[in-house]
Amino acid sequence: MAITPTEKIWFNGELIPWGDAKIHILTHTLHYGTGVFEGIRAYETDDGPGIFRLTDHMRRLHQSAQIMGMELPYSVAELVQAAKDTVASTGLDACYVRPIAYYGYGEMGLNTIPCSVDVAIACWPWGAYLGDDAATKGVRMKISSWTRHDHNTMPPLSKTTGNYVNSSLAKVEALKAGYDEAIMLNPDGLVSECTGENIFAARRGLLITPPISAGALPGITQDSVMTIARDHGFEIRVDDLSRSDLYVAEEMFVCGTAAEVSAVNSVDHRAIPCPGPMTKTIASKYAKAVRGQIDKYKDWCEHV
Ligand SMILES: Cc1ncc(COP(=O)(O)O)c(C=O)c1O
Repeated sequence: MAITPTEKIWFNGELIPWGDAKIHILTHTLHYGTGVFEGIRAYETDDGPGIFRLTDHMRRLHQSAQIMGMELPYSVAELVQAAKDTVASTGLDACYVRPIAYYGYGEMGLNTIPCSVDVAIACWPWGAYLGDDAATKGVRMKISSWTRHDHNTMPPLSKTTGNYVNSSLAKVEALKAGYDEAIMLNPDGLVSECTGENIFAARRGLLITPPISAGALPGITQDSVMTIARDHGFEIRVDDLSRSDLYVAEEMFVCGTAAEVSAVNSVDHRAIPCPGPMTKTIASKYAKAVRGQIDKYKDWCEHV
C-alpha cells in the first residue's frame, strides 16, 4: 500500500519536515533488523482525532525494547505526547501511526551495546489493510509453509523489525498463491497467529485464540476484542488451536491494528461460514469503540 506523505515526522524529539527524515545507509538496524516498532491507528471521533489505546501501544514499545536489551531515551509519557503532536501536525482526522526505535549510525557489527538509539514517529492516511470487504465478505487464508519462530529463536513477544522477515516471507507466499493472508504454525505445529494479526476461531460456540506461549504477539486489538466479546456475553478462551480446528471452525476472524476485525471465509480452500454471527457483532462493536461511540470504551480513545 503506497504511502501518502504528511507534513511532519517526529524525529529524536523534534517535528521535522517529512522529506528531511532521512538516515545514513550504514544505520545499524538497517543491516541487522534490531529495531522495535509499533503500529497504531488514530480514528475520527466527535471530540477530534482519537489515538486508539496509544498508551498501551507505547508501553508495548517499551516492552519490546526491554526484551531486546535496548534502552529507549524517552518515557512512555513522552512518546504518548510525541505521537499526539505528530498526529496533530498532520491535520488529519484519522491516520496510521508508526513509532520506531532503532540503533543508529556510528557503530557496525552485531554488538548493540555501544550503539545510540534513535526514535521516530510518522503518520499517514491508511485504508483497510486486508481490503474494504474484509469485515463482510472475509479473506482467504493459507497455512504458511514458513514456521513461526519460537521463543528461543526470535522473541515473538517483541515487535522487533527483524522478526518480520518471517512474516514477510509468509505474506508474499500467500499472496502469490492467490490468498489474502497467511496463518503461522509454531514449531510444535500449533496455530500461532497471522503475519500481522491475531486469530480467533469458534469451536462448539466458544471463541478460541492462541496464547503467547504459542508464539502469538499479545495484540492490543485482540485484548480489545476479548473485552468487547466478553462484555457482550460471548465465551472466549485463550487456548491452543490445531490446523484441523481451523478447517472445521464454525466461524473465524483475524484482528490487528492494521486489519481491524477481518472475517475469514476459508482456510486452505476449506470454506468457513462467513461472516459468522459472533464475528459480525464483534466487528461492528469494535468499529464503534475505536471511534469513541461506545461510552464504556471511550477511555481507549486518547485525544490529540
Ligand atoms: C505479528 C503480529 N501479531 C499480531 C498483531 C496485532 O497486534 P495489535 O492488535 O496490537 O495491532 C500484530 C500487529 O501489530 C503483529 O504484527
